[in-house]
Amino acid sequence: MQASPTKPINIEWPTKDNSRVPFIVFTDPDLYDLEQKVIFRGPNWSFVAMELEIPNAGDYKTTWVGDTPVIVSRNAEGKIHCVVNRCAHRGSTLLFDGTGNTEDFTCVYHNWRYDLAGNLQSVAFQHGVKKVGGMPADFNVCQHNLTKARVETFHGLVFVTFSDETPSLSDYLGERMAAHIARVFHRPVKILGTYSQTLHSNWKLYMENVKDSYHASLLHTFFSTFKLNRLSMEGGVRVDGDGAHHISWSKRGTDSAAGTDYEKAGELRAVMDDFTLADPTLIRSWLEYEDGITHAIQSIFPTFVLQQIQNSLAVRLLIPRSVDKSELYWIAFGYEDDTAEQYDMRMRQSNLIGPAGLVSLEDGIVGNFIQRGIRRETDKSAVLEMGGRVVEDQQSRVSEAAVRGFWQAYRTRMGL
Ligand code: FES
Ligand SMILES: [Fe+2]
Repeated sequence: MQASPTKPINIEWPTKDNSRVPFIVFTDPDLYDLEQKVIFRGPNWSFVAMELEIPNAGDYKTTWVGDTPVIVSRNAEGKIHCVVNRCAHRGSTLLFDGTGNTEDFTCVYHNWRYDLAGNLQSVAFQHGVKKVGGMPADFNVCQHNLTKARVETFHGLVFVTFSDETPSLSDYLGERMAAHIARVFHRPVKILGTYSQTLHSNWKLYMENVKDSYHASLLHTFFSTFKLNRLSMEGGVRVDGDGAHHISWSKRGTDSAAGTDYEKAGELRAVMDDFTLADPTLIRSWLEYEDGITHAIQSIFPTFVLQQIQNSLAVRLLIPRSVDKSELYWIAFGYEDDTAEQYDMRMRQSNLIGPAGLVSLEDGIVGNFIQRGIRRETDKSAVLEMGGRVVEDQQSRVSEAAVRGFWQAYRTRMGL
């Protein structure tokens, strides 16, 4: 039976507010299927690419919106298109190779050919062979285009949506989220490298982690030991879009640990005062932006992340693979006019992030720690009361407000 978005699946939410999250939302395969329809094919903007990845006419990139395979491409006029990577004939996947350059999309199976906008151009043997066979006379090529997504770009970031009801991208982002993207992309950037990693956890556990400003200096011993990011720094959380989007930020130059739990030796696992770096150049940095913010993580619902960790800049795209598996794509970047020294510092700091990063490897596994723990606990719930039970801006990062915001946005969309 097909569940409807308004009364989807029988999941009891323990509280009206978002201070409890039933574990079953991370393990229920029917809910996962419904998310694909309601969230990823519904009225939300999904990040798919940086324009820099497809700079020339004919460039394309294969990726996913949720678990729907798509092709993002730039046509001869420079316009960016996004289509489902599925032939309109019998459904074969069209492109397999990640990135490339082409004049058209030709399906391997029966050679139907599409332009980069997804319009069917030709059908092999449409009129048969020697007037025998072929398509019926009333077959209309124009009615068999690829499934197209709407495309909008903002500061070189390409977002797409399959719904006509999605508001404009600027309305969807809102002023503050747009301003933060503009802050980072304020001058031309260049890609330093890309990589991906498999996460053995539900996609929502990673998005919770990204929005969880409480964990950063507790899970990540590297952050607290080398004082790169601690809750004793000036910082806060902005929550926008009905809870859907967030930014957590801090200023390293304002750290003042006196009178905080960081001073109580032995109480916090994360503080290892007797550790030093054999090569301190690993974390050598400079103040990147005039506002003094040295650490800023932004998430745009559902699965886009923009990262500034000191001078390590990256966008991350999370792809759900199944109810308990996801893939995380990273694009690390710097600015076109970086000096050689700045480039060197960015590359060294990149050791903090990515699948084996001194910080990020912990984010990659902690979702699986949860996934393992909750497997048979489908009637239990997570507790989200740090910073109260509200979904609003926070003056402190000792808060789970942005995580509650995610659930507020999720529940509204899913009708839960
Ligand atoms: S499935 Fe693509 S041409 Fe037949
Ligand atoms: Fe983290």
